[in-house]
Amino acid sequence: MSNIVVSLDIGSSKVCVLIAELNKKQFNILGVGTSECKGVKKGIIVDIDSTVDAIKNAVKQAEQMSNREIKSVYVNICGGYANLYRNKGVIAVTREDREITAEDVKRVMQAAKVVAVPADKEIIDIIPEQFIVDGYEEIRDPIGMVGVRLEVDANLVVASCTSVQNIRRSIQKAGLTLDGIVLEPLGTAAAILNEDEMELGVALVDVGAETTDISVFKKGSLVFTKVIPVGGNHITNDISIISKISSSDAEKIKKQYGVASVKLVKNDDIIKINNIAGKGEKEIHLSDVAQIMDARISEILFLIRKQLEENNMLASLSAGVVITGGGLFNIKGIQDVAQSYFDVPVRLGYPNYIGVANPTYAAATGIAIYSLKQKRTSSISSKSVNVSDEAAVEIDDEYSLEAKPGIIEKIKEFFADFF
Ligand SMILES: Nc1ncnc2c1ncn2[C@@H]1O[C@H](COP(=O)(O)OP(=O)(O)OP(=O)(O)O)[C@@H](O)[C@H]1O
Ligand SMILES: [Mg+2]
Repeated sequence: MSNIVVSLDIGSSKVCVLIAELNKKQFNILGVGTSECKGVKKGIIVDIDSTVDAIKNAVKQAEQMSNREIKSVYVNICGGYANLYRNKGVIAVTREDREITAEDVKRVMQAAKVVAVPADKEIIDIIPEQFIVDGYEEIRDPIGMVGVRLEVDANLVVASCTSVQNIRRSIQKAGLTLDGIVLEPLGTAAAILNEDEMELGVALVDVGAETTDISVFKKGSLVFTKVIPVGGNHITNDISIISKISSSDAEKIKKQYGVASVKLVKNDDIIKINNIAGKGEKEIHLSDVAQIMDARISEILFLIRKQLEENNMLASLSAGVVITGGGLFNIKGIQDVAQSYFDVPVRLGYPNYIGVANPTYAAATGIAIYSLKQKRTSSISSKSVNVSDEAAVEIDDEYSLEAKPGIIEKIKEFFADFF
């Protein structure tokens, strides 16, 4: 079985393609490609053609860098458009000598997928939590064991059909096939969080260009996820509108002189920029830029805290908050400012691997790590299936994400193998 995967992160500001391999327990990046993308708004594809162009471009770069051809990809789906749903599968073991085979495991996983989903939702992934053989629980790999009754407790990833169809269509039109869809918070966590954090209780906050994904892990499991429509582009827009300069100038100023708090401005230097109307130069005070950024960053942090508080998550974050994504990560002073907002320890997290050591690669790296792990346990089929008419359970349109302990265990195991 190949130990190479290609991951594709369709973000609001860029499309990113990684070719990654697992070689003797070492995770390596073989190729990287990124392309600006204007076809995604707030984490959802709104323009297929420009998304396809961006995918093709990023694929080409990664192919050239690695000297390999990309045929298929694993892709992310934004946490806001997918949810986890817990279900059980039960089968009778077929062999006369009652030895459990890979075929039995496949059948029990299929049985766990027998649920009725609303017409606008589909199952995109299934994650086994534990197997139960004749009542004995917490079995990770039942193949080779002897029993009569095989059960599985699994988590189904259920996503909106529209977003999944647009992802599929974009990938097909880019000339690729789809290996699998990964729920973004699960992928990002695999690249950014460590075992202890996930066990103790941690909020992973991925502040991107237009969205902020907040996910909470406790006892190794994803227990809460929410996407709010704010990100680094809002900071750029504020600077652009208030200072009356172009977005590209505002973006440059933000990256070069940006601070998270007005308190960090030592000298009120002046920057000269070409006027937006092309007439003469415009003077911008760094203290004004700092004030604009301070206000917007405070708002983003306030909204994150509000989500954590309203969902009773903040009090139990023993391992604090981990910030990743490009939106806030590189802004001077962000760690201290965030810490004072959340009243818990704050760490800045990025994928610590050669070639992708940058927070904007968090999701792409995570998808690759998560998918390599899925491939390794591929005897347990993780592909989506059609939902049977014999519906065992009705899924409510309004169900919330309540993953039970154990869902991330396998990722943790896999993750631990790297160290
Ligand atoms: N050095 C920097 N300082 C400040 N902001 C930065 C810096 N580098 C990148 N950014 C900002 O990070 C954002 C892009 O981050 P990221 O690549 O994580 O977003 P994305 O994944 O494309 O978007 P999303 O996750 O919202 O779909 C942009 O708003 C960009 O302006
Ligand atoms: Mg992102």
